[in-house]
Amino acid sequence: EKLVVAVDGPSGSGKSSVSKEAARRLGARYLDTGAMYRAVTWHCLDAGTDLHDAGAVAAAVRVADLFISTDPDHEEVRIHGTDVTAAIREPFVSEAVSAVATNLEARAELARRQREIIDAAGRIVAEGRDITTVVAPDAHARILLTASEEARLRRRGLQLGGTQSAADLQRQVVARDAKDATVSSFHEASDGVATVDSSDLDFEQTVQAVLAA
Ligand code: CDP
Repeated sequence: EKLVVAVDGPSGSGKSSVSKEAARRLGARYLDTGAMYRAVTWHCLDAGTDLHDAGAVAAAVRVADLFISTDPDHEEVRIHGTDVTAAIREPFVSEAVSAVATNLEARAELARRQREIIDAAGRIVAEGRDITTVVAPDAHARILLTASEEARLRRRGLQLGGTQSAADLQRQVVARDAKDATVSSFHEASDGVATVDSSDLDFEQTVQAVLAA
């Protein structure tokens, strides 16, 4: 039977790993919508598309041949046939992604594709910034996963394996959060959305809290 779980949250809230594990336990598919924003950003950079040209960015998204795996045990993202699974996690993509995220036409097109993927999957946990509000407001469960800035920075540090200095990381995460905040309602739960604050929860406790919502 159909089951759609929508999870939103800022960088470092743990939403990707928690949503993936929740999907496994529910026998559901998993959609990382941020990976779609990252893939389009990677492609614009690769193709030399001017990221300041909103029309050009929107056009690139419209014609993008984008594939994303929804298997929680197999991460794969391809754009125009190129496997970008690893490349989209590079800092140069994180630094440029707001050009796509703040483009309203690009958002509308990606949201449309995300709805198609969600409908086709039937049972799925979808995560991002606007899933509870825009992409799947009628989801069976809607969760905003939050965490204190301290906890989020700590997790990003662990995730990136300590290859960058703590100060660099801090600047990057704070800068991207600030850019994301310009897109309305990324950081506040709307009506009917359950907030789970993971600051003082371990991974297992956070998964349980999401499954209980
Ligand atoms: O690294 P992190 O998990 O924070 O981000 P992500 O989920 O990979 O998403 C990368 C970027 O895509 C975010 O910083 C947002 O700017 C954008 N995004 C968005 O605008 N809407 C979504 N539904 C998902 C991501």
